[in-house]
Amino acid sequence: MMMKSDAPKLLTLGYDLDAWNGYGAKIPITTDISPKNNSQMLICGMSGSGKSYYENALFSKLVLAEPHGEFHFADYKSEDSFAYLRGCPRYYTYKNTLHALDAVYDRLNARQSGEDKSCNPITLIWDEYMANVLSLVNEDKKFAAVVMNKVSELLLLGRSLSVRLISTLQRADSIAFPVGSRLNYGIVVILGAAIKSIYEMLLPDFMEQVKGRVFGQGEGVVLLQGSQLHFIKVGTVQDSERMRQICVKALS
Ligand SMILES: Nc1ncnc2c1ncn2[C@@H]1O[C@H](COP(=O)(O)OP(=O)(O)O)[C@@H](O)[C@H]1O
Ligand SMILES: [Mg+2]
Repeated sequence: MMMKSDAPKLLTLGYDLDAWNGYGAKIPITTDISPKNNSQMLICGMSGSGKSYYENALFSKLVLAEPHGEFHFADYKSEDSFAYLRGCPRYYTYKNTLHALDAVYDRLNARQSGEDKSCNPITLIWDEYMANVLSLVNEDKKFAAVVMNKVSELLLLGRSLSVRLISTLQRADSIAFPVGSRLNYGIVVILGAAIKSIYEMLLPDFMEQVKGRVFGQGEGVVLLQGSQLHFIKVGTVQDSERMRQICVKALS
């Protein structure tokens, strides 16, 4: 019999871009986010490409897909897009983002040691992860290394313990991902007009498919499990008030 936690759980990542633009059809691009799949997620794109907008939308969808999930939100730059989350106990800004990391990392360790027997999904959403790490590197290299190692552990061990990281950043430079941990993302999203080197870094085997394509704000590429490439349209949030309510509740 299939264990409850092993049942497929689908998350809509966006809509097929060519169908949307070509004939106005909304065909969802979904992925299984149950623990049997790697749902560690990286969202890249230049400033203004729509990462924060996407994060809000994705966050609310994730809460609906995982009603028993535990969520933590780290917003390094304290962006206006997330201003509605201010005051939520599991919403962290600026230097406090490291408290979010520690909270989730402690849960990972407790599960790993067997002390914590729970298995509901725990998600840390971390906006502007790279900017956060680079500022730590500038301040104190040793401390930054400790932080990055925790992130690596989350990425490496998270799937089997139902702990996931969703991080957004402009460029996935290797400095913030020690020992190849960048390869541990099962879901990679690149939004908007990205420079070639971003694709080369994250989609080296798919350069032919991406070549010549142009993506606007809220459009981009998704690579699932390193093998399935999709072009997506994020679309607009229909009921942003409801979306916000869902997200606030999930962090409270
Ligand atoms: N899919 C979308 N539909 C409608 N507006 C969007 C979409 N994506 C982004 N925007 C708008 O574009 C602007 C920049 O998006 P934002 O998410 O802040 O970009 P980033 O986080 O990548 O810098 C915001 O005003 C946002 O509301
Ligand atoms: Mg942003």
